Parts: sequence; C-alpha cells; structure tokens
Amino acid sequence: MLHQSLTISGAATNTDTIFSFNPCLAPRITPPSPPPTTLSFFFSMNHSTKQNPLLSSSSSLKHTTPVFAPQASRVTHETSPSKDDVPVHGLSEVIVGVLGGGQLGRMLCQAASQMAIKVMVLDPLENCPASALSYHHMVGSFDDSATVREFAKRCDVLTVEIEHVDVATMEMLEQQGVDCQPNASTIRIIQDKYLQKVHFSRHAIPLPEFMQIDDLEGAKRAGELFRYPLMIKSKRLAYDGRGNAVAHSEEELSSAVAGFDCGLYVEKWAPFVKELAVIVARGRDNSILCYPVVETIHKENICHIVKAPANVSWDIRKHATDVAYKAVSSLEGAGILLNEVAPRPHNSGHHTIESCYTSQFEQHLRAVVGLPLGEPSMKTPAAVMVSLVLF
Ligand SMILES: Nc1ncnc2c1ncn2[C@@H]1O[C@H](COP(=O)(O)OP(=O)(O)O)[C@@H](O)[C@H]1O
Ligand SMILES: [Mg+2]
Repeated sequence: MLHQSLTISGAATNTDTIFSFNPCLAPRITPPSPPPTTLSFFFSMNHSTKQNPLLSSSSSLKHTTPVFAPQASRVTHETSPSKDDVPVHGLSEVIVGVLGGGQLGRMLCQAASQMAIKVMVLDPLENCPASALSYHHMVGSFDDSATVREFAKRCDVLTVEIEHVDVATMEMLEQQGVDCQPNASTIRIIQDKYLQKVHFSRHAIPLPEFMQIDDLEGAKRAGELFRYPLMIKSKRLAYDGRGNAVAHSEEELSSAVAGFDCGLYVEKWAPFVKELAVIVARGRDNSILCYPVVETIHKENICHIVKAPANVSWDIRKHATDVAYKAVSSLEGAGILLNEVAPRPHNSGHHTIESCYTSQFEQHLRAVVGLPLGEPSMKTPAAVMVSLVLF
C-alpha cells in the first residue's frame, strides 16, 4: 500500500462515540469503485541512511492468535447464513464478505459492529483472529476457486484483507455480476509488485528505477546498470520483507536470487531518509480522501513504528499526498518515490482507530458498501503506533 499526506475535504465530521447511522438514508449499492488503498513512499534527501539488511521476518499476515470461534463453519456447512435469508433493515441487510480473517479482518469486524454491517470472513484457520467477531466465518482457503465461489454466493459485496487471493476466480465472479471491491483488475495489478511498478510508471508516478530479471545473468546486468546495493524482489507472494533481498556486491547476487520461485525483478537502491505512508480512500461515487501523511519506521522489514503526522515540511506532505492521489486515481481505470500499494487497510493506518475521526476500517466499509466517505483528519494532535510483533 502507499502512504501519503493530504488536504482534507469538507466531509461531515463524525467521531467514534457520536457515530449514528440512519438506515433509511443508506445509499444502495452502486457500480464498483476501489475501496481505500494505502501507498508507501520514500522521501529521499542528499544523504543515505542505514540500509535495510535482508532479514527473515515474522508475518503480520499469519494468524497465530488462539481465538474461540463459535461461528466458524466449513464450506459445506449447510446451515450457514446466506444473503437470501437475512432480514432487510437498511445496511444490516448487506453482507460484506472478506477474503482473509487475520488481524485486519478482525478490525474490520469491530468497525462493522458499530455500523450495523454484517461481515463474513473466509479463512482457512478455525481460530483466525476475525473468527470470534465476524457475523460468520467460513473455514476455507481464499486461494481456492470453488471455495471462493461458494463464499461469494453468501455475500453482497466481496472485499479483501490480503491481496494474495485467487484473482482469476474474482474476475470470473465479476463477469457473473458479483460485486468485488476493489475490482479484480486492481488486485491483479497490486498482487504482482512488478506489474505495480509497470502500471505506475505508465502513469508517470515517481518510482525507483526497476527492471525484470530472469536469472543470475540478468541480475548481474542489473547490478552493472543500477550499481550496489541492489534491491531484489519477488514479484508475487511478498509481504513483510519476505521476498526481498539486498545484494551489496556482485558476489552476493547468487545467494540473493536463490530460493525465489515467483518471478523476480530488481529495484535501484533508494537512499531514503524517511519513509512515508498515505492511506487514500475512494468512495463508490469516486470521491477521494487522503489520510494525513505518516512516517513509518521498519524493523526487520516489518512496519514497527508509525508517527502521525509525519514530521516533514508542508510541501513534502503535499507532494506525497499528490503522488498518492494520482496513483490511486490511476487504478481506476524528486524527492518522493512510490514504494508500493495495498488495496486494503494497512498496518500504517492502525493509529486511525484512536487518532482520526474515521478509522481506516470504518472507511474501508464505507467505501465498499457505498456510504459517503468519513472525515479522515486527526482528532488528536499526534499519535504513535508501535508494533509489538518484534518484542
Ligand atoms: N528500492 C529500495 N531501496 C531501499 N529500500 C527499499 C527499497 N524497496 C524497499 N525498501 C525497504 O524495504 C522495506 C520492505 O519493502 P517492500 O517492497 O515494501 O516489501 P513488503 O512487501 O515486504 O512490505 C520498505 O518498507 C523499505 O524500507
Ligand atoms: Mg512494504
């Protein structure tokens, strides 16, 4: 996801405590548009900072929290709810289906409970984090076509908390009229980091230089072109630094490219001094709102600390926001380089639960079901998020 700073529109302000929902005013679902997207950027200056070593990392996408899951069911469970037998009361009739039931899915469920929206999750782990809070948990793989199709039958709108889903099936479902948010075409671009780079370079988004490599010889040619250190990345199934390797010299190339089997590309090293992130929400009416630019500090490739707002000058924040806005606009249809995009809530936006008028989770649900986007500005002067994953 991409992270960036913002100008705030004049959307109506609400807070967690005074949020109220009038089902009579709820707009009906309208044609698709992408939900919130997170963008991350490098803010470069004239000097380098310490480079990120290649480290194996634990995954925030892994579901290790033991949670009692009274509502879990398997795909074949015949008594699980279906969209046809749910009483109709405004938005409470809408079942949002989430592919993945990890921590982000759990926080979506928390936001949904205040909005009278039902969230169903599809996750292979019976005790996945979202299980205890979801309206229904179907136990199954979000990467299995038959399972995703069965799950989609029970939902009104399909979204993701992880981009590594069976996108071919989502494309097929879309053709059959299933409402997928974000669109399968967006997920297809984003789940392949190289395709992301190709897409954004076509839209003139500032990026580190990059090129595809097919083998060690290709990596050597890239090293001659971009020099060292050289960032080597897996095109697919990469997250939390898994799939990234840094070669500091040609001698390190063979070990750096070893073991990757999802296709590779390389990026020129970006000697950044700060890494910024922006969460951008786009509503179904194509309204776009950006959250404040935050600074992210990674440890072992995991987002470890988030400082909101980023302590950078106004023009840097404006620049980052402009790039994020442009990047997200391109999905529909200097000093700052875009790193990556995620089509969902992101770790860099957890602080929004306490510090912003509309949390990123409420915002995702608003975008997905077609409610007006909520005010994204901060209601506290500053906020810091520290991840406990590495403690
Ligand atoms: N081209 C690059 N130059 C320097 N550092 C980079 C580069 N690309 C990524 N990084 C660093 O590595 C971290 C993880 O890379 P990223 O591609 O975002 O992987 P992931 O998908 O695991 O989040 C980034 O947050 C950034 O700190
Ligand atoms: Mg990243």
